[in-house]
Amino acid sequence: MNPEPRASRRTVLVTGASSGIGAAFAEAFAAGGFDVVLLARREDRLRALAAGLERRHGRRAHVLVADLSPPDAAAHVCAELDARGLTIDALVNNAGYGVPGAYVDSSWDTHRAMLQVMVVGLAELTHRLLPGMLERGYGRVVNVASLAGLVPAPAGHTLYAASKALVIKFSEALAHEVGARGVHVTAVCPGFTRSEFHDVTGTREKVSRLPGWLWMDADVVARQGFEAVMAGTPICINGRVNRTLAFLVRHLPLGVVTWAGRRLGRSYRKA
Ligand SMILES: NC(=O)c1ccc[n+]([C@@H]2O[C@H](COP(=O)([O-])OP(=O)(O)OC[C@H]3O[C@@H](n4cnc5c(N)ncnc54)[C@H](OP(=O)(O)O)[C@@H]3O)[C@@H](O)[C@H]2O)c1
Repeated sequence: MNPEPRASRRTVLVTGASSGIGAAFAEAFAAGGFDVVLLARREDRLRALAAGLERRHGRRAHVLVADLSPPDAAAHVCAELDARGLTIDALVNNAGYGVPGAYVDSSWDTHRAMLQVMVVGLAELTHRLLPGMLERGYGRVVNVASLAGLVPAPAGHTLYAASKALVIKFSEALAHEVGARGVHVTAVCPGFTRSEFHDVTGTREKVSRLPGWLWMDADVVARQGFEAVMAGTPICINGRVNRTLAFLVRHLPLGVVTWAGRRLGRSYRKA
C-alpha cells in the first residue's frame, strides 16, 4: 500500500499537552486531520491523551517526554524528532505557568526556568522548526500568549505579563515576515481559562471568587486558536469579554487603565 501523501499526513508538535489548553489544542489539530506529537513532563497523562486521540480521530499520536526548562531543551527535542523521523508542519508553543508572589521572593533560577520555558524555549523551537516549514511552503505556528500581555501588569507574577507581551510582539512580527511563504503565525491570547494553571500557580482560591462570565473552557480557546492560525490571523483574543477588555485598554486613558489593573490584580493575585 502506498503511504499517504505528505499533504494529507501533516504533524503538529504541541508543548504542554498534558493538560488544559495544550491538551485541547492537540484535540483540535487531531480533529483537523493532523498527526500529533504530545510534549510535556507527565508521561502518564500524555499516553492517556495519545490513546484517546488515536481512538477518536484515527490519527497517529506520539509521546515526547521532555522538560523545557533546561537551556538545551529545544535542541534535545529537535534531535529526538529527527531520530524518530518526524517532520513537524505545525507547532503549538503552549507550555507555561506563573511564578506567584513578589519578584525578589523567588530565586533567580526559578525566574530563569520560567523565561526559558515561556520565552527562550518558545523562540528557539520556532527558530529550529521554521526553516523546514519555509522550505516545504507550509507551516502553522501557534504561540499561546495571554490577555495579560495586552493589559496593564499588576503586582506579583512579575515576569508573566512581560513574557506574554514579548510572545505577542514576536508572533506579530514573525507573521508578517513569513506569511507570504505559506507559514501562518498566531499569538493566541486567552483570558481566564479553566485548566490546572491556577492550581500550579497557587492562585486557585483567589480566582475562584471571580465571576463566571470571565472564564472560558480550554476546548473553546483551542478551537478558536486553531481556526485563527488556519485563517492566518496574527493575533487571536479569545471571547467577546476578553476582546472588550483589550479594546477598553487601548482606548481609555492610561491612568484609568493602570488604576483598574492594580485593583483587579489585588483581587486575584497571590501577594
Ligand atoms: N489558564 C489560564 O487562565 C490561562 C490564561 C492565559 C494564558 N494561559 C497560558 O496557556 C498556556 C497553557 O496553560 P494552561 O492554562 O493549559 O495550564 P495547565 O493546565 O497548567 O497546563 C500547562 C502545561 O504546561 C506544561 N509545562 C509546564 N512546565 C513545563 C516544563 N518545564 N516542561 C514541559 N512542559 C511544561 C505542563 O505539563 P507537565 O506539568 O506535565 O510538564 C502542562 O501540560 C500557558 O502558556 C499559560 O500561560 C493560561
